[in-house]
Amino acid sequence: MPRHVSHALRIGRMPMGRPQNGRQKNQGKQQEYSKRIRHLAYLLKIKSLRGGNLVAAAVQLRLIRVKLIKAMTFHLFEQNDSSPQNEEIAPGAVFLHRFALPHEAAILQALSEITASAPFRHMVTPGGHQMSVAMTNCGLLGWISDKSGYRYSPADPQTGKNWPRMPEVFLRLATTAASEAGFAGFAPDACLINRYHPGTKLSLHQDKDERDFSHPIVSVSLGIPAVFLFGGLKRTGKTQRLPVQHGDVIVWGGPARLRFHGIMPLKPAIHPALGSFRVNLTFRKAG
Ligand code: SIN
Ligand code: FE2
Repeated sequence: MPRHVSHALRIGRMPMGRPQNGRQKNQGKQQEYSKRIRHLAYLLKIKSLRGGNLVAAAVQLRLIRVKLIKAMTFHLFEQNDSSPQNEEIAPGAVFLHRFALPHEAAILQALSEITASAPFRHMVTPGGHQMSVAMTNCGLLGWISDKSGYRYSPADPQTGKNWPRMPEVFLRLATTAASEAGFAGFAPDACLINRYHPGTKLSLHQDKDERDFSHPIVSVSLGIPAVFLFGGLKRTGKTQRLPVQHGDVIVWGGPARLRFHGIMPLKPAIHPALGSFRVNLTFRKAG
């Protein structure tokens, strides 16, 4: 059994084989609570219309109100308690829902420090086109693109200085996400930071500028939602559309390492943390 699968079974949080299971169960509960709320609302109407003893009716109303609030609280609680689940999206690829959320404040702080010394910029493709996604990097190596090609560089071509070092919170997030997905010992030396605004997309591509494909990729979504395209090993392969939101992490490695992936054009939205932007952190062991 591959390492990532046996690990996932051991931690027992991943609905193997039936990845929708947790969601379906939650949906079932939500339907049940909705039914209860509708039933209580029906009771409320009938009994309050009964008239007669007004004092008794008022007491009944109060009791029903309490029940209604209880049921609504359950309903909301169930909705919020769709506790993050690890979802296997393909062999070697795991979706860690909201995995980065507990570290949100430290991540955003680190991000603003990085972009203060290595600002976002629109790089140029080898074909001479300016990319719509704005990028920067942190770590020992940074991914760059210009007319002479795609590659990793220890220095920011814009300033000639080394990229900002990878903050501790980034490193910890990447390594814990990788090991949660079954890739223990991940030691990223590169973090590409992409910034998207509504309308921006990233075409299907493979990450293959790294030296050794035995290391996984860890991808962290922040800010406004997007749809992550997760394809096959060939560009023409079947592509899954995975909605990603603030705090979601996707890890792919092993048999999934060279899967095509991309981002669909972003819809306009506002997120309290990043305004109208989506930021993605992609951790890799590049050198
Ligand atoms: C990438 O593939 O470089 C980034 C993907 C993403 O923004 O989620
Ligand atoms: Fe990529």
